[in-house]
Amino acid sequence: MRVSRVKSLAGEIELPGDKSISHRAAIIGAISDGETVIKNYSTGRDCDATLNCLRQLGINALRNGKLLNISGGRLTKPEGPLDCGNSGTTIRLLSGVLAGHDFSCRLTGDESLLNRPMNRIIKPLIAMGARIKSRDGRAPLEISGRSPLKSVSYELTVASAQLKSAILLASLYGDATTRVTGPPSRSRVSISRNHTELMLGFFGADIVEHFHETDDGFVQELAISGMKELKPQPVYVPGDISSASFFIAAASVLEGSDIVIRDLGLNPTRTGIIDLMKNCGANIEIGDRRRLNREESGSVRIRSSADLRHQSGGLTISGDILSSLIDEIPILAVLGTQLAGGITIRDAEELRVKESDRISAIVNNLRKMKADVTEYDDGLRVGRSDLSGAKVDSYGDHRIAMAFAIAGLFADGHTEIVDSECVDVSFPGFFQVLESVVK
Ligand code: S3P
Repeated sequence: MRVSRVKSLAGEIELPGDKSISHRAAIIGAISDGETVIKNYSTGRDCDATLNCLRQLGINALRNGKLLNISGGRLTKPEGPLDCGNSGTTIRLLSGVLAGHDFSCRLTGDESLLNRPMNRIIKPLIAMGARIKSRDGRAPLEISGRSPLKSVSYELTVASAQLKSAILLASLYGDATTRVTGPPSRSRVSISRNHTELMLGFFGADIVEHFHETDDGFVQELAISGMKELKPQPVYVPGDISSASFFIAAASVLEGSDIVIRDLGLNPTRTGIIDLMKNCGANIEIGDRRRLNREESGSVRIRSSADLRHQSGGLTISGDILSSLIDEIPILAVLGTQLAGGITIRDAEELRVKESDRISAIVNNLRKMKADVTEYDDGLRVGRSDLSGAKVDSYGDHRIAMAFAIAGLFADGHTEIVDSECVDVSFPGFFQVLESVVK
C-alpha cells in the first residue's frame, strides 16, 4: 500500500469491536451454560482464529457480520491441531481453558506465533496439574488437560494480561480457590488490562479483586473459586482503542484535523494513550460515557493541538504506564517525530516478543524515513524529524503496518508499506477508513 502526505484528517469514523474483549466474550461464552449473544464482535483475523478453534472444540458459533451467537457447553477433543494463526491471545487464553479439560490437543499458529514465548503460561498451568509439551518454550503446544486442576497461589512476574487470563480461566476448573497476584504498579489502573476479570465476574464467576498497597506500589490480587458454573450474558463490544490510536495520534498533530469516534472502549486499563497525550496538551474530548457489561465506553473527539506539537519537554514512557498503552508504542514512536521534544520509551523489552520485534521494526523503518532515532535494548528515543517517504516493511505485524501508514501522512513524497494486508489481523478496512477522513 502507498501513502502520501496529507493536510489534515476530518470526519466521523467507526472502528471494529475491541479485539481483547471479543476474544474473551467468545471463549467465556463457549464455556458458559447456554446461548451467549455478542454484538459488534471484532472483524479482525485474530478473532476469527479464536472462533475457528472453538468450533473445532465442538462449540456452535453462528456469525452474521458483527453479530455472534455462541452455544456454550462442554468442549470436546478436536480432531486435528488448533490453528491460532497470528494470535497470542487465542493460544494463551485457550491453553488456560484446555488445561482444565480431560483430553489432549495441539495448539499451533503462524511463524510469528511459533516464535513467541510460552513458558510464562506453561509454568503455572503445569503447577496446576496440566501436562504440556512445547518446542523449548515455544508453540506448538501439546496440552493434556486434567479435571479438576489444583488451585494454586501464583505471583505474576510479567505484567501480561494474557498470562493472568490463562491462569484465571484454568482456575475455573480448580478444586478450590486460586489466587493470582500481579506485579506492583503505581496506580490501580496501571495494571495489565482487566477485561477477563470483569467478564468472568459478569458471567457469574466467584471472583474477588483486592488491591493492597506495598512499598513498591499497588498490588492487584484476584481470588477465584473453581467449579462454579458460568451463566451466559449479552455482551456488547465497544470500539477498539488500539485501532483508534492511529487516528488519535495523526489528528492530534495534523493542523486543522477534527475526528470523532463514537462508542470507543475506554476501560481505564487501556486509556494510557489518551491520558498521556492529554497531559501533554492534546485536544481530546470525551462524552456520552456509558458502561455496558462492566466495560466503559464513550465518544471521543480529537482536534489538532499546537500545544502538543510544541511541547518542548518531550514525552517519556517508562515503568508500569506501559501496561496501559503497550500496543500503542509503534504509533507513539511515529508521533514522536512530530513533537518538538520527541519521545523516549524505556522498560519496553516485552515489545521484542510481540507479533514482531517491534523495537527493531520501528527503528529500522524510522531510519529508512530519515528520522532521528536511537535504539536501546528496552526501548528507543525518537527526536523531532522531517520524514522522507520510503519503502518500509510491516514485518508481518499489523500495528507496524498501520503506524507506518500514519508516518507516510507526515512524510515528503510517497511511502510504501510492504505486506500491508496484515492490518486485517485487527482492523480490516483500515486503509479505507483512513482514506475516508483524508482532507
Ligand atoms: C492482550 C494483552 C497484551 C497485548 C495483546 C492483547 C490481551 O499482551 O499486547 O495485544 O488481549 O490480553 P500481553 O499479555 O503479552 O502483554
